[in-house]
Amino acid sequence: MLRSVRAFAPGIIGFPPLIVAACLDRSRAARPEESERGEWDDGLLCVAMTVRNLLLSAHALARGGCPVAGFHQDAVHTLPALPPHLEPLLLVPIGHPARASESTPRRVRGEVIHHESW
Ligand SMILES: Cc1cc2nc3c(=O)[nH]c(=O)nc-3n(C[C@H](O)[C@H](O)[C@H](O)COP(=O)(O)O)c2cc1C
Repeated sequence: MLRSVRAFAPGIIGFPPLIVAACLDRSRAARPEESERGEWDDGLLCVAMTVRNLLLSAHALARGGCPVAGFHQDAVHTLPALPPHLEPLLLVPIGHPARASESTPRRVRGEVIHHESW
């Protein structure tokens, strides 16, 4: 199964022992017409936050992972026979890091955090 998913996910490099498919559940998300912004925004944000929690948990357990959006959605939907209301948005390969991670460059705090006004 992992090998097949990987074949339809060029965004995944290497051979992770675990790939989590983070899905939007359209049967539970607010419908576009019910949402203030007219989109599936809230459901998308929930999936993004869940993936962040998954990555933090993996890190706490000395595992590594990263979000991958580069995959063939129809194939990834069909392979594990997901029901129609589940839409895979991100794949998250999880594994043992090949090397200790190094922090990548970050923008300075004052550039991204503003107090009281911009
Ligand atoms: C929403 C999202 C989707 C991503 N999709 C891909 C992808 O399809 N392929 C890929 O190589 N990297 C993708 N990335 C980037 C990797 O997940 C990862 O962030 C990048 O390799 C840098 O990792 P680092 O910040 O730990 O060095 C994506 C990142 C995000 C936030």
